[in-house]
Amino acid sequence: MSEWQNLIPLADLEPDDVTPARIGKRRLAVYDRPDGVYVTAARCTHGGADLCDGYLDGNVIECPLHQGCFDIRDGSPLEAPATRSLATFQARKQGDFVQVKMPVKALTI
Ligand code: FES
Repeated sequence: MSEWQNLIPLADLEPDDVTPARIGKRRLAVYDRPDGVYVTAARCTHGGADLCDGYLDGNVIECPLHQGCFDIRDGSPLEAPATRSLATFQARKQGDFVQVKMPVKALTI
């Protein structure tokens, strides 16, 4: 079962950029786009760099360490050396918050 959870206040969202967030022990990257918000895991699947320090260009996040690229909408790798997808999570703006939908189990670890 998944539930919507408040992730960060809208006021903390970096406009047209990536914002770090955390739920439990899970580090997340929140992307502000004209068509809404997207959330992925914050750790690059290649070498674990923090994608929140990366460069957002449209719907593509470029890793700050080796410049691997991912599509923030589905986490798919677009540019080597990234070859494995990022975890992605449903997200929305609701009231004064960015919310993310996660399995209840994931919220307790
Ligand atoms: S750590 Fe991200 S591309 Fe290598």
